[in-house]
Amino acid sequence: MKRFASKVVLITGAASGIGRAAAERIGSEGGRVFCVDVNAEPLADVVAKVDEVGGEGAAHVCDVTDVDACRATVAACLERFGRLDSLVNMAGIIQMGHTETFPPEMWKKVIDVNLSGHFYMCQAALPSLLEAKGNIVNAASSICFRATPYAAAYAASKGGILAMTRMLSVEYGKRGLRANCVAPGSIKTPMAAPAGIPEDADYDIIMRSMALTGPSGPEVIAAAIAYLASDDAHHVTGEHILVDGATCA
Ligand SMILES: NC(=O)c1ccc[n+]([C@@H]2O[C@H](COP(=O)([O-])OP(=O)(O)OC[C@H]3O[C@@H](n4cnc5c(N)ncnc54)[C@H](O)[C@@H]3O)[C@@H](O)[C@H]2O)c1
Repeated sequence: MKRFASKVVLITGAASGIGRAAAERIGSEGGRVFCVDVNAEPLADVVAKVDEVGGEGAAHVCDVTDVDACRATVAACLERFGRLDSLVNMAGIIQMGHTETFPPEMWKKVIDVNLSGHFYMCQAALPSLLEAKGNIVNAASSICFRATPYAAAYAASKGGILAMTRMLSVEYGKRGLRANCVAPGSIKTPMAAPAGIPEDADYDIIMRSMALTGPSGPEVIAAAIAYLASDDAHHVTGEHILVDGATCA
């Protein structure tokens, strides 16, 4: 399959986990992939892998909490590849802790990176995406549908992303833009060992969010992202795809 042969895809969070797997998957389908992350060091490897599997990669460092940096990132992508067909927002963080003692500055940080970061990137990319009649794939989570404890800020950010994505699909649908989310369950990436799990955590309720089908790697989410970003999904918008091994079933 070469579904991305003439396409340019900008991926945030591309240095690790799901974003990295998506860069490699879309590269393997012939895409030009603009790989974006706040963590500069691993990006060269990701770009090399995208090139190796048949795509064309480029690296760019950006902190998605910085609105000007988000605008500059889209400008750099246009400068490098001349167009933008898909924005894949995977940059994110998680911080756990008991809700009654969760530090307000940590709440702000999680909302800033996850929710505001998605918004700033969507806003910056919208003019080029509308021109290309392109699409957005955002990172929701199974936590939107089946709650995990000790993750109030993360859950709120993911619920916000889901709602914002559906809203974008309606606001821009008539102009040819699609907006969807992937909603991963627990996936084996660095994020799967989050900071802040309380020492007295109740694992009975934590285990409610474990996949029935066993652990999975980020490639299962990359496959869903590639589908949503491709023309195969041309009639799919305002949707989410749960990839969670029946956690929410
Ligand atoms: N892994 C899971 O189980 C899981 C489940 C549900 C949803 N998700 C979501 O999927 C997305 C990818 O998660 P992952 O598991 O690959 O995590 P990950 O930690 O492997 O990768 C996240 C990437 O985001 C980058 N990032 C963090 N803050 C940033 C910032 N301010 N600006 C730019 N980049 C930044 C990190 O450097 C990292 O490369 C996240 O949005 C996450 O919330 C993951």
